[in-house]
Amino acid sequence: MSSLELRGITVRYGRFTAVDNVDLLVPEGTVTGLVGGSGSGKSTLGKAVVGLAPARSGRVLVDGSDASRRHGRSPVQLVFQNPYASLDPRMTVGASVAEALSGGALGRRAPRRERRAARDAEVRRYLELVGLDPSRAALTPDALSGGRRQRVALATGEGVRPAVLIADEMTSALDVSVQGAVLNLLRRLQRELGFAMLFISHNLAVVRHLCDQVAVMEGGHLVECGPAERVLAHPEHPTTRELISCVPGLALAEEAS
Ligand SMILES: Nc1ncnc2c1ncn2[C@@H]1O[C@H](COP(=O)(O)OP(=O)(O)OP(=O)(O)O)[C@@H](O)[C@H]1O
Ligand SMILES: [Mg+2]
Repeated sequence: MSSLELRGITVRYGRFTAVDNVDLLVPEGTVTGLVGGSGSGKSTLGKAVVGLAPARSGRVLVDGSDASRRHGRSPVQLVFQNPYASLDPRMTVGASVAEALSGGALGRRAPRRERRAARDAEVRRYLELVGLDPSRAALTPDALSGGRRQRVALATGEGVRPAVLIADEMTSALDVSVQGAVLNLLRRLQRELGFAMLFISHNLAVVRHLCDQVAVMEGGHLVECGPAERVLAHPEHPTTRELISCVPGLALAEEAS
């Protein structure tokens, strides 16, 4: 189980402050939904956590220690909306997952043949973990549906055994019919593997279903943060109220539950 703590994160693009002094704690093994209007700074904050946004100040702590100072690969992984962005279209699915695993638990000293067999077994294990038939390992991403591609992206994300996962509009490019399956998978993985997750989404109904805590952004600021049930049933900030009022049925569903 791991926690994620952001302290005073600020990101500027030139003179424009996209994220302004944001503090946020994602308690260990839980999911925080990050919501807010378009341009409020959600993606920029997510990128800052993994060091992809420029001019960053502030600290990112994973389990209380500086994420960047950990040895080896980053404990934080980012999964984007469009899995094409994170999967190499020329590489087979198996090769993409194997690459994410490389240098992992396989040991560099073992003979090459053993290493390859162990690697293939690991690749199969990760594909099965995300509910994909391992026989698809030989396919390239363009031969897969959007939902299956997103599963592969998750397998590569999980392959590096992150302590923290940032999912940015992960399912919004998918058909509604497969969104549910991918979200259920994400929830199962999160519970089984116990990573902390920052789940960026426009979809408050999904956030309600998936998240323990909800954080609301506006104009680069974090304007409200609290337990999902409380924030969605009794929003305190006008921005949160407005977001909720845009989703017919959400308030009613809250009242009924
Ligand atoms: N590379 C960049 N250069 C300059 N400005 C940027 C850059 N990336 C983002 N911005 C600006 O920073 C602000 C926050 O953008 P960001 O993408 O983080 O918003 P968002 O909350 O993720 O929006 P959306 O819900 O539409 O995805 C916006 O005003 C955007 O125009
Ligand atoms: Mg965004």
